[in-house]
Amino acid sequence: MAAKPDSVQLEVRDGIAVVTIDNPPVNALSRHVRQGICDTMREAVANAEVTGIVLACAGRTFIAGADITEFNKPLEAPGFLEMIDVLDDAPKPVVAAVHGTALGGGLETALACHFRVAVASARFGLPEVKLGLCPGAGGTQRLPRVVGPEKALEMIVGGNPIGAREALAHGLADEIVDGDLTEGAIAFARRAVAEGRPLARIRDRDEKVAPARGDSTLFDAFRKKHARRMRGFEAPEACIRTVEAAVERSFDEGMAREQEIFAELMAGGQARAQQYFFFSEREAAKIPDVPRNTETLDVRRAVVVGGGTMGGGISMCFANAGIPVSMVERDQEALDRGLATIRRNYENTAARGGFTAEQVEERLGLIDGTLDLEAAREADLVVEAVFEELGIKQETFRRLDALAPAHAVLATNTSALDVNAIAAATGRPESVIGTHFFSPANIMRLVEVVRGEKSSKETVATAMALSRRLRKVPVLVGVCHGFVGNRMLFARQREATRLILEGAPPEEVDAVLYDFGLPMGPFAMADLAGLDLGWNAATSTGSTIRERLCEAGRRGQKAGAGYYDYEPGSRTPKPSPVVARIIREFAEERQLRRRDDIGREEIFERLVYPMINEGAKILEEGVALRASDIDVVWVYGYGWPVYRGGPMFHADEIGVDRIVARMKELEASHGEEWRPAALLERVASEGGRIGGR
Ligand code: 3HC
Ligand code: NAI
Repeated sequence: MAAKPDSVQLEVRDGIAVVTIDNPPVNALSRHVRQGICDTMREAVANAEVTGIVLACAGRTFIAGADITEFNKPLEAPGFLEMIDVLDDAPKPVVAAVHGTALGGGLETALACHFRVAVASARFGLPEVKLGLCPGAGGTQRLPRVVGPEKALEMIVGGNPIGAREALAHGLADEIVDGDLTEGAIAFARRAVAEGRPLARIRDRDEKVAPARGDSTLFDAFRKKHARRMRGFEAPEACIRTVEAAVERSFDEGMAREQEIFAELMAGGQARAQQYFFFSEREAAKIPDVPRNTETLDVRRAVVVGGGTMGGGISMCFANAGIPVSMVERDQEALDRGLATIRRNYENTAARGGFTAEQVEERLGLIDGTLDLEAAREADLVVEAVFEELGIKQETFRRLDALAPAHAVLATNTSALDVNAIAAATGRPESVIGTHFFSPANIMRLVEVVRGEKSSKETVATAMALSRRLRKVPVLVGVCHGFVGNRMLFARQREATRLILEGAPPEEVDAVLYDFGLPMGPFAMADLAGLDLGWNAATSTGSTIRERLCEAGRRGQKAGAGYYDYEPGSRTPKPSPVVARIIREFAEERQLRRRDDIGREEIFERLVYPMINEGAKILEEGVALRASDIDVVWVYGYGWPVYRGGPMFHADEIGVDRIVARMKELEASHGEEWRPAALLERVASEGGRIGGR
């Protein structure tokens, strides 16, 4: 018998073998676990005293999947399928006992068992698609045979887990256990033995998939419905094809198809980018000098100052997390408007089926609108979201300093101002920090947590923990104009404007980024945000294209015209001959040389290389802790396609040496803004990489 690693234990309790996996933190199927499962299962099967087998996990969860750290190297034996077959072929009933999450290879392991019991809080899912993969241990063939192809498509292509009750309703779980899970699973196994229940091998089942055979309607409708969400991704379509195989082919043929598709995806660039991103997101939570056990403030009551676009959205975030919040406005009209917008937002979500009417009222009940900043006296944490003017923000912080309790954290939502200058308006700069939410704040997942010079470790840890409680992804950044995201955006915007002045039409510039996978290009984005942000008719001098457009009443989508034309009631941008003329005239006035040969490659380089260069400067200055943090900012804040990792990951895909060489050419033709950052030069000369991994 092969040596049994400690991560899998076997114990026989009155004729039932209990195989327990203990591989913290999430019981991933590392090589030694696969080996341990094979060995202990064979031992249990060979033991004549054993009549049934329970497969359970120690710690916080059932198996959370393959060990992702083993990907991209040759998989050491035993492989997943060998282990799966050992379970499936067992001649004695095998019962999976699920708590926490049975994910990916974890759920596939459970599906290879003959029965599954779970605690009520357990969750079941195949999230491989989020790593750029399809399930690769039989999940694509077994799940449709249990829950039917429609539900299987939803779970495999969507990648989101379902709860135990839903799993029970779909036949994925056989029983919900109250009380001790292992005992419940043992009792289930005993009953199965006593009743002589046939071993329920999913591979032999056909009744759920047979009705869909020879009919592509289900798959066609699914593709159509999710086309927008799947745009650019390879894995979702590949996952659909595996489920098609489950419907159309025998189990063994379907398995062969799954293995083929899994291997193709694993070898592709998207899977590498998405796996990099999985770890990047978790890395961003780690701050070297602020350890995980740093004390954080328990935020029980919050105050948001300003009830405009951002203040309203941020107040909703608190209410959604169950935290009572007072939203402070400066006059009744603004307050009424802000509260009405919040109500409308919630009601719209309810109308789309997101909430019940009761949930809407519950959340609204947690938001208290007021004109009195005295509300700050009760606050554990304040988020300021007033106008973007240093003087107004400093005055607000001066007053907050006088009112808020000594323990409170005072946060600003400024998008570009100096957090240190705001903190200096208080007598407690250690309690001041930036929490830069993105618009719409109730939807966008990113929060840049801006660490001021004097922000204490507790303040930093509190802002990070609170963001997570609000279901956001916080990334720690330092103080500089625009922090990480907007600073890089400004660099891109500068070059986008130059491109249209040189002769590239705005729609071509936008199309390059859209086709790359971003939700929209710089001009469509500017139209959406409004061209008149920070614009003043009284002081406008027509010195930029943007000013000219505003002066012509083209203030963006809300005005039906901006860089693009919009038909009434439509959000679809249409190229505008008027804008083409305004741009041409502006360029002629300035005697700018225009060309009609600006190709897609040049557009791409000129939009993306300045972002990478700015990212390198951000790293040099220590404004971001690591290159991968910048990527997390861009994926969650600006919709950079996750299958391309992020701008810094992409820099390595292109090759930093190639980028530097091209930037030097552009420096010669377009000036010193194109000079590569010292860090880029160094990486290029060493032939290294700038990204984290
Ligand atoms: N492999 C290796 N490490 C993993 C892992 C995995 N599958 N899942 C999580 N980890 C690590 C994380 O990197 C993290 O490490 P760190 O503490 O050093 O940063 C640690 O485990 C804890 O993870 P989280 O911080 O994410 O813990 P949570 O409690 O918030 O979440 C979880 C737990 C829901 C299990 C979450 O970690 C998760 O979603 N994991 C990934 C699940 C997944 O994608 N499984 C499919 C893998 S692919 C597969 O199975 C292929 C198969 O079909 C052949
Ligand atoms: P907004 O103009 O929509 O809202 C500001 C609100 O603050 C107004 O309703 C105003 O009446 C109120 N206000 C002004 N002074 C006040 C005071 N002394 N007390 C109470 N209320 C006061 O502005 P928006 O867009 O919500 O921006 C707020 C902050 O968030 C700014 O710092 C902005 O830079 C930042 N931000 C904005 C983003 C956006 O996309 N709009 C994104 C991220 C940050």
